[in-house]
Amino acid sequence: MTSPTPQQLAHSGTLEDLYKQLGSIRMGAGWAKPTPSLWAEPKKSFAPFVWSYAQAKGALDAAGRLINTELAERRNLILQNPAGDYATSRTIVAAYQMIMPGEKARSHRHTPNALRLIVDAEPGAYTIVNGEKLSMMPGDVVLTPNWCWHGHGNDGRACAYWLDVLDVPLVQLLEPMFFEPHPDEFEKESVVPNDSPMHFPWADTERRLAEAASRSNGQPAEIALGGSGPEKSALDTMALAMIELKAGQATAARKVMANSVFGVAKGSGTTEVEGAKLSWSRGDVIVVPAWRSHVHRSDGGAVLFRVTDEPVMQKLGFLRNGSAAH
Ligand SMILES: [Fe+2]
Repeated sequence: MTSPTPQQLAHSGTLEDLYKQLGSIRMGAGWAKPTPSLWAEPKKSFAPFVWSYAQAKGALDAAGRLINTELAERRNLILQNPAGDYATSRTIVAAYQMIMPGEKARSHRHTPNALRLIVDAEPGAYTIVNGEKLSMMPGDVVLTPNWCWHGHGNDGRACAYWLDVLDVPLVQLLEPMFFEPHPDEFEKESVVPNDSPMHFPWADTERRLAEAASRSNGQPAEIALGGSGPEKSALDTMALAMIELKAGQATAARKVMANSVFGVAKGSGTTEVEGAKLSWSRGDVIVVPAWRSHVHRSDGGAVLFRVTDEPVMQKLGFLRNGSAAH
């Protein structure tokens, strides 16, 4: 069909005739949209879900036998939300990863921000971030922000397992995706720092949680890793926190316009999300999509590691808290 002239459009005899001509010039009639483009409240497009570390560990051990060391940097299991085939939540993807003794995962850098929570590892597992060698022990959190070189290795005697969390779905949506392999394949360490802003050792987390619990009046203690608020969060797009539930404690109901992924750093418990009850134990991962009222409980005590996209929502003016009752 040739492009209609202004006169042909002006003289459309029927709406059908007009729609047909508009279609050929890539214009759509706003009064006859097939689906609405605005709605009253966030849609429930992603589902709350829990993934089992025990199952992931079994599958990763099989992958250790079945795929070679060359693929070690990709020996991971992506936690796919039941609503889709890749992302864990709208903006965040999480994956379990394992590297075997003697293996190295090649260094690279990319624009997506990444972090990891170590689940099981023995001394000798490490990440090199921009030349800094950081040890990876259970409960540690290691950051690799936008465009920082990073690679992993395992000089220990046991397989190392961790949880990766990245903002890849957000970067895919906004499209500033860049990736570069390291020119030397494996970045050499230049320093082994005593203290790095990229590394949150579990011992420090436990000490800070104990201090916070002494001031929390019987409520679950919560600490930020790397600061809170949009200008101070650990990463530009994700804020990190550790939440300790003493035996018998429950969190206050929370409903916020931010997506949350929780890794269980210690203990076991349940998360109630709008009627659904998710049970979890150490190493498991729970996703609570934005705008869902949720409560965590633990009978025996637990520590939850929370990653949220709150800094994104806050910087853009979209962050809001809902009434947690519904
Ligand atoms: Fe990476």
